[in-house]
Amino acid sequence: MRKKIVAGNWKMNKTASETTELIDALKNQLSPSDVEVMIAPTFVNLQAAVKQTSDSHIEVIAQNMHQAQSGAYTGEIAADMLKDIGVQTVIIGHSERRAYFGETDAILAEKTKAALDNGLRVVFCFGEELADRQSEKHFELVASQLKNALFALPSSDWNNIVLAYEPVWAIGTGETASPEQAQEMHAFIRTTLAAAYDDALAQEVSILYGGSVKPANAEEIFGKADVDGGLIGGAALNAADFNAIIVANK
Ligand code: 13P
Repeated sequence: MRKKIVAGNWKMNKTASETTELIDALKNQLSPSDVEVMIAPTFVNLQAAVKQTSDSHIEVIAQNMHQAQSGAYTGEIAADMLKDIGVQTVIIGHSERRAYFGETDAILAEKTKAALDNGLRVVFCFGEELADRQSEKHFELVASQLKNALFALPSSDWNNIVLAYEPVWAIGTGETASPEQAQEMHAFIRTTLAAAYDDALAQEVSILYGGSVKPANAEEIFGKADVDGGLIGGAALNAADFNAIIVANK
């Protein structure tokens, strides 16, 4: 059975004290549920966040990592540094990393492999830009992002991969893919996975939707058959909204 997941990507938001405050609020307000809950604060606050959540069901995950094991990569963070502070999961391939930091499919293939080889779980993000959808290239683009970064991996690695489809035109714009558009793409992703591996594997991979998910639209999106949860940006910065979104993933 694939898992239901709601993950909050805090991006470059929240100081150390604000991180403590928001985690306190989450610990007080999150309703019990069988949904896996993850939050991704910034690197400087990760270690404190891991400690602060150790008595809760909230998993603290990283927003990024470097593909090299160690070395002269000023400003970067390696997989074993994350593992050493108790982080077990890392987001790879967010569209903001692709757009602003030049992360190509080839780099993301290396990062994903490095994360998995070091025993980390990966939340792998991908999705088309508005121009791709307008020119009806969105399916082709998504298939190529998956193939280029992930399909060289052995089947066994897929136990530790969660996919997050995030159409770039829906991120932080207030514009959400309709539940039908999300379902159509998620079903396509599962078919693409089944063709590259097999149907049993495709059925086991959790596929999250991301892009302007809010309490008001979460239930309808999560209600679709191939949508297993969400990767939440803005609405994850408010405990009540984040809780409402988790509860909507029934
Ligand atoms: P928003 O929910 O703010 O649109 O961000 C989505 C996202 O990029 C999560 O990674």
